[in-house]
Amino acid sequence: MMTDHSWAGLEKQQEKTLVELFASDPDRVAKMTIEQSGLRFDLSKTHLDDAMLSQFAKLAEDMHLGDAKSALFSGAAINVTEGRAAEHAAERGNGDVQAVAHARALQERMRGLVEAIDAGFMGDIKHILHIGIGGSALGPKLLVDALGRDGARYDVKVVSNIDGAALTEAVKGMDPHKTIVAVASKTFTTTETLLNATSAMEWMRDGGVADPYAQFVALTAYPDKALEWGVDESRILPFNESVGGRYSLWCSIGFPVALGLGWAVYEELLEGAAAMDRHFRHAPLLENAPTLAAFCDLYYAQIKDCQTRAVFAYDERLRLLPDYLQQLEMESNGKSVTAEGAPLGRNSAPVTWGGVGTDAQHAVFQLLHQGTHLIPVEFIASKTPGHDFDTAHHETLLVNCFAQGAALMAGQKSDDLARNYAGNRPSTTILMDDVTPSALGALIAFYEHRTFVNAVLLGINPFDQFGVELGKQIAKSIGENGATGFDPSTTALIAAALGDN
Ligand code: F6P
Repeated sequence: MMTDHSWAGLEKQQEKTLVELFASDPDRVAKMTIEQSGLRFDLSKTHLDDAMLSQFAKLAEDMHLGDAKSALFSGAAINVTEGRAAEHAAERGNGDVQAVAHARALQERMRGLVEAIDAGFMGDIKHILHIGIGGSALGPKLLVDALGRDGARYDVKVVSNIDGAALTEAVKGMDPHKTIVAVASKTFTTTETLLNATSAMEWMRDGGVADPYAQFVALTAYPDKALEWGVDESRILPFNESVGGRYSLWCSIGFPVALGLGWAVYEELLEGAAAMDRHFRHAPLLENAPTLAAFCDLYYAQIKDCQTRAVFAYDERLRLLPDYLQQLEMESNGKSVTAEGAPLGRNSAPVTWGGVGTDAQHAVFQLLHQGTHLIPVEFIASKTPGHDFDTAHHETLLVNCFAQGAALMAGQKSDDLARNYAGNRPSTTILMDDVTPSALGALIAFYEHRTFVNAVLLGINPFDQFGVELGKQIAKSIGENGATGFDPSTTALIAAALGDN
């Protein structure tokens, strides 16, 4: 098979050390750096050289990456296992004409509700309690945390976990009379979200709100279900079913961003993502940031058998980015079958994990520098600080970020093995001009497309997630039937924690 041949070609490549790569090519930084939409992607501290890049280009050709991109942007049913399109880019204006028009109309409806709320349609509102989970929470949470630090128009809290402690903490300090509850669920069937919504309703009633339903908004692809649940039609913001849950921050799941931070912020976010869409669609393969980054991912996961990849945000505003990426990358590409249902026969996506610099340096970096695992690292930083304190803070932050990348690559020889750093450890750096709505939109779209290229080159359908269903079904069955038919350990745990019922 052609693809096997391309992978075999990659496996045969002679790898140079990072230091050798820089020494042998004075233009390496320029060649492996792409500037786009206020973001600088420096992929030069990875092991990819010209020969490997042309081998990856061959693999992309074998796997029809060009056709897959056209299918993505034209609204073809590329989510084959669920028989539908994946139209998140249409939300940003890049897609099939009808899908774009539909997305725009629904966004206009959201804008109408935002403006009505600002004008007092739902009373004197101060707080937004956004309830959702997975893709219905991670995007809004990241965006509000990153962009709403100064100047949020409403106090926004996002609750996802079914543990009541999460809801208790979120409503602390909220006045139920001045709160909008936004129930965000693509399917409007998710247990955690519906139970949290019911408890939020109780909290409102207990707080003396006569008609709590009047303070509920629903964000969903299934408006009928929200209607049935009791939300009035005028406060339901539907979105297109062909937008996947983990890509849904661009549509009405982004409501707390549009309302909490303002419509202009939401629009800028979409524009930033749209610019990245255009770059991904049209830039040549080797000047294409998502594509080149995916080649790096595949090199380490497939050829070097790296089981994980680490992402460190050297900016407090992006502290939730690793969480967001975990779902995007692992729920999309954590699969062991191809889109055709055959065994994958290769490694699936690596585990994405990470944290915030400089904190992480004092916790996990020891293993990155001297552990036996090879872990490709990604640094994300901003040239502009997100605070007004002394510039020493930001300078020290950035210097630390760059020093880590340099140290991972160069290492340091010592006869004392405990003090020896092998070096030659890869990293990529994404340097943002600033954490603006538009740059963040572009950054998230970059990750979406990178995940897509990884999937296409592996032959995976990144748009389904059947793997999360089994645990849900078992939990439901325990809830309904008690501890019958389970393994002895599970039966004993249920009995110990919940009694025999
Ligand atoms: O965990 C599985 C999942 O289906 C995610 O893909 C999704 O983002 C999340 O559950 C929430 O689903 P919903 O938006 O339908 O409540």
